[in-house]
Amino acid sequence: MNSLFKKISIAIKRVTNKNSATLHAPIFIGKENFYLKECIKSTFVSTSGKYINQFEKKIKKFTGSKHAIAVVNGTAALQMALRATGIKTNDEILVPSLTFVGTANAIKHCGAIPHFVDSDKESLGICLNNLETYLKKISLKRGSHIFNKNTGRRIFAVIPVHVYGHIIDMNKLKKIAKKYKLKIVEDAAESLGSFFLGKHAGTMGNLGIISFNANKVITTGGGGIILTNSSLLAKRIRHLISTAKLSHPWKFIHNKVAWNYRMPNINAALGCAQIEKINTILKYKKKITKKYQKEFKFYENVIFVNQPKGCKSNYWLNTIKVKNLTFSQRDKLLNKLNESYLECRPVWKLLHKLSMFKKYPKSKLNNSEKLESELITLPSSPVYGKKN
Ligand SMILES: Cc1ncc(COP(=O)(O)O)c(C=O)c1O
Repeated sequence: MNSLFKKISIAIKRVTNKNSATLHAPIFIGKENFYLKECIKSTFVSTSGKYINQFEKKIKKFTGSKHAIAVVNGTAALQMALRATGIKTNDEILVPSLTFVGTANAIKHCGAIPHFVDSDKESLGICLNNLETYLKKISLKRGSHIFNKNTGRRIFAVIPVHVYGHIIDMNKLKKIAKKYKLKIVEDAAESLGSFFLGKHAGTMGNLGIISFNANKVITTGGGGIILTNSSLLAKRIRHLISTAKLSHPWKFIHNKVAWNYRMPNINAALGCAQIEKINTILKYKKKITKKYQKEFKFYENVIFVNQPKGCKSNYWLNTIKVKNLTFSQRDKLLNKLNESYLECRPVWKLLHKLSMFKKYPKSKLNNSEKLESELITLPSSPVYGKKN
């Protein structure tokens, strides 16, 4: 354990050029102060103002998505994206157990059921071979939908989560989704700046979402965005996130119980300054990744997690896999690293083990179980790439 701690801590210090290092802190190198001041001066700090539209336009340009709808956070974005697909109460949604709790929360907020599937040991996203075998075994086609033979419920959609910026083989997933009549909602919360065969994360399914929480590649303070190429879905979402208010210069008429999820202008102002610097930030992050790759090249039991085939990852959080690490060894190691002010984290506790999700359906989760104890994320703040 001591030698493992030594190896990892020395590597982090060499990469970051620091004796203490944050996991992922934002970096403000553009017009943040200027836009924020201007926004405050305008008094439009809430859900109307020029920056919202500008931010959406900039994200559309960068991602190539036809529509981009800015909202209050990534979880709300996912909830709205799922809503827009036509999800019904008690539909089952296939989702990896190895993801942030927000992914499954969004499903529950729609009145639907998370159905947990296994992850791939290399890409960290859904294991597509296991998914196909599993669907063959448990699904039943009836009309234009599939149903779970065991529960009788409709299986309506799949949420590929691009973990730490790594995108799975979306072409293969699309084939499976077509065969089993599943909608695809991409959880690209962590993946701004990641591409699969030239296509940006979140633009390959029916809808996708990105988070702009302060720990992501760029931030709006709190925020998220929904990406879609469907004008119909975009229109539906814009209505849902603005309290279903019918357009009128001064009357308050609403035709649905809906949400107030629009991104405030003041957050969008910050976002505009941030997205203008995305290529520089990604360049800084690339430098860090290259250094970590070098550091861990020759260790037999410590494997640096590289981007999967076809994916150009943003390497949001650089990650290592320590072979055969047990939970107690992992926790000892993480304690030591954090006590030394090196912010390293385990991957999320698998969602099917959390008390509120225990009762929901799941496939065999052998890969996820192994990844849960073996994965460790490393300090990846872009500022370390700036200085080195
Ligand atoms: C995979 C994943 N999904 C969803 C979310 C939710 O985003 P937010 O924190 O903006 O609600 C996050 C962000 O932390 C995430 O990492």
